[in-house]
Amino acid sequence: MSLKFSDEAQKKFENLLTRYPNKRAALLPVLHLAQEEFGGWVSPEAISYIAQLLGLTELDVYDTMSFYTMFYNQKMGRFVIEVCRTLSCEIMGASTVTEYLENKLGIKSGETTADGLFSIRNAECLGSCGTAPMMKVNDDFYENLTTQKLDKIIDLLKQKA
Ligand code: FES
Repeated sequence: MSLKFSDEAQKKFENLLTRYPNKRAALLPVLHLAQEEFGGWVSPEAISYIAQLLGLTELDVYDTMSFYTMFYNQKMGRFVIEVCRTLSCEIMGASTVTEYLENKLGIKSGETTADGLFSIRNAECLGSCGTAPMMKVNDDFYENLTTQKLDKIIDLLKQKA
């Protein structure tokens, strides 16, 4: 197996283990660590590595990982745009937001742009229903979206890249 934590990530991993009663209980934070460490997604190779580190089966790791939308099983863009598609956002125009982004970026929801900058995904309620329609880009919320706001957000993100 060629995948391995860097020395720094290994230290974080060992530190995490001290905070949980057993290795299995540390699975979620270890998945976060692995996703951060291995290029923003959890590959099949990373699943094997985590399973080996924690004494679990690959299926155990995969089952947990696939339950949570914040773990990605494919390489994602630098900016992961998650458009909330639950009721409040849907009523306030989430489908227009998605369609506008798809046209602007030239990809469908679930895809990543060829330059590796943007991925678009649908998300379930992100807890910001009062400011619908909204989306999350990596860790940041963007709310009360309009097409004008979307243009500005995409321009800003491109400048950050
Ligand atoms: S419905 Fe979109 S944030 Fe809750």
